Amino acid sequence: MYADRILREELISRIMTSEQAAQLFKDKMVVASSGFTKAGDSKAVLAAVAERAKKEPLKITLMTGASLGHGTDGVLAESDALSLRLPFQVDPVLRKAINKAEVLFIDQHLGETVTLLKSNHFPKIDIAVLEATLIEADGSIIPTTSVGNSASFAALADQVIIEVNTAIPFSICGLHDIFSAGEYPNRSEIPIVAGADRIGRSSIYIDPKKIIGVVLTNKTDSPAEIAPPDESTTAIARHLVNFFSEEVKKGHLSKSLLPLQAGIGKVANAVLHGFMDGEFENLTMYSEVLQDSTFDLLDSGKMTFASGSSITVSEAYYQKIFNNFESYKDKIILRPQEISNAGEVIRRLGVIAINTGLECDIYGNVNSTHVAGTDMMNGIGGSGDFARNAYMSVFVTQSAAKSNTISRIVPMVSHVDHTEHDVDVIVTEQGLADLRGLAPRQRAKVIIENCAHPDYREELLDYFERACVRGGQTPHLLEEAFSWYSRLREMGTMKKFAD
Ligand code: COA
Repeated sequence: MYADRILREELISRIMTSEQAAQLFKDKMVVASSGFTKAGDSKAVLAAVAERAKKEPLKITLMTGASLGHGTDGVLAESDALSLRLPFQVDPVLRKAINKAEVLFIDQHLGETVTLLKSNHFPKIDIAVLEATLIEADGSIIPTTSVGNSASFAALADQVIIEVNTAIPFSICGLHDIFSAGEYPNRSEIPIVAGADRIGRSSIYIDPKKIIGVVLTNKTDSPAEIAPPDESTTAIARHLVNFFSEEVKKGHLSKSLLPLQAGIGKVANAVLHGFMDGEFENLTMYSEVLQDSTFDLLDSGKMTFASGSSITVSEAYYQKIFNNFESYKDKIILRPQEISNAGEVIRRLGVIAINTGLECDIYGNVNSTHVAGTDMMNGIGGSGDFARNAYMSVFVTQSAAKSNTISRIVPMVSHVDHTEHDVDVIVTEQGLADLRGLAPRQRAKVIIENCAHPDYREELLDYFERACVRGGQTPHLLEEAFSWYSRLREMGTMKKFAD
């Protein structure tokens, strides 16, 4: 069963159950795990750690690439097994624990975790749990559906437990491109000049002496739950696709545009699907997550290549892709997230970044993370790595939330993740605001007129005009700017005159 998965013989004697592996953890340990947007995560050992924590005091610091699947974050939070979590999560149970201050959370640019670790700004990793397709004869592992931070975790951790997942087909071997630019002050350049460039090795080296356990699993990733496109997400996609068609007509971009990055979720998925229509050709992706729409674009021939750090797809697409993986092998690459999200490469390639925000303000600042400025939603993820360095940074959002009781265009965002300087285009189902080359007062008019929900447009305009009377480069009425949130808290709606 495992003879062709564990090619280093001495490691066969280190095969153990997930429960035995869980016994290797101690209270207060710093643990790192593979896993990026539900792909390639620990499917057995962390769940067993959660079980153990139900029975005895066991609290760990847990760092990953990004979010975990199979409800693992929720199970860990429920069993009180987490003291600190970074750099991203999407789990409702963990989110609640974070907002009740039961778990501390570091919300971090996904491209930065490894740099901070290598510069000793975090405690040393005691144990890394890494999912692998197979272990090679020298102890190196072939990762599975994500690379994330696994290569650096393997190098930096004192001890490593490997989860060999027999559900992953051997055809995945050769997909990964593992490269490290080294450490300061002697970091090298990252020599990617086109998204398809391979610059590293196909496996992650691990010193065999550090491998303290091997656990066998046979479980696929948690599927991505992607809501089908609706009227609103289709309208957002239409506005954006029309905008890019115009950019092509004006000669600003070729029909291949520039490499695309798209966040995850129903809006991003609908937007990428939008590129199936129109005159675009030979599109490429330099992104974090390869999702359903990426594979549709590859299948249709509209896209020729996609580089990311994980494959996170729905159940139906998982079967379709992995039953026929050989046909995608020369069209996709998975990289470590400090490479997929490296500002250097994103800027060199001229990536068009398309991300989603919770709210934007009238000058173009974007909040992606904090509900009403206080409660954590998911985290900034890679959106900041891309938005800051992109050729063009687009933010898409619906104009209102919760049956229009919340305007997602507000006078001043309650938390800033992306400043006006990093936001070029805002799109809602109402329309698109191209902010490039506009001063703050010009930006406000375009955002309010083109993007705000009609229920809030007049009041936003009124706020802006009264602020302009007071004056300033970026006019505001500070005593009033956050009154929309007080109204929401007290009246259940941001509307001044509730219907
Ligand atoms: N205030 C309060 N709640 C809000 C809100 C606001 N301004 N805007 C949205 N919401 C609520 C929605 O109503 C929805 O809740 P519901 O499911 O109970 O109805 C929820 O927040 C999610 O909003 P939705 O519009 O469905 O967004 P989404 O699934 O497209 O996700 C983000 C939006 C911002 C949460 C998500 O894109 C994210 O986490 N972004 C940061 C990370 C990132 O950008 N990664 C990309 C690089 S991979």
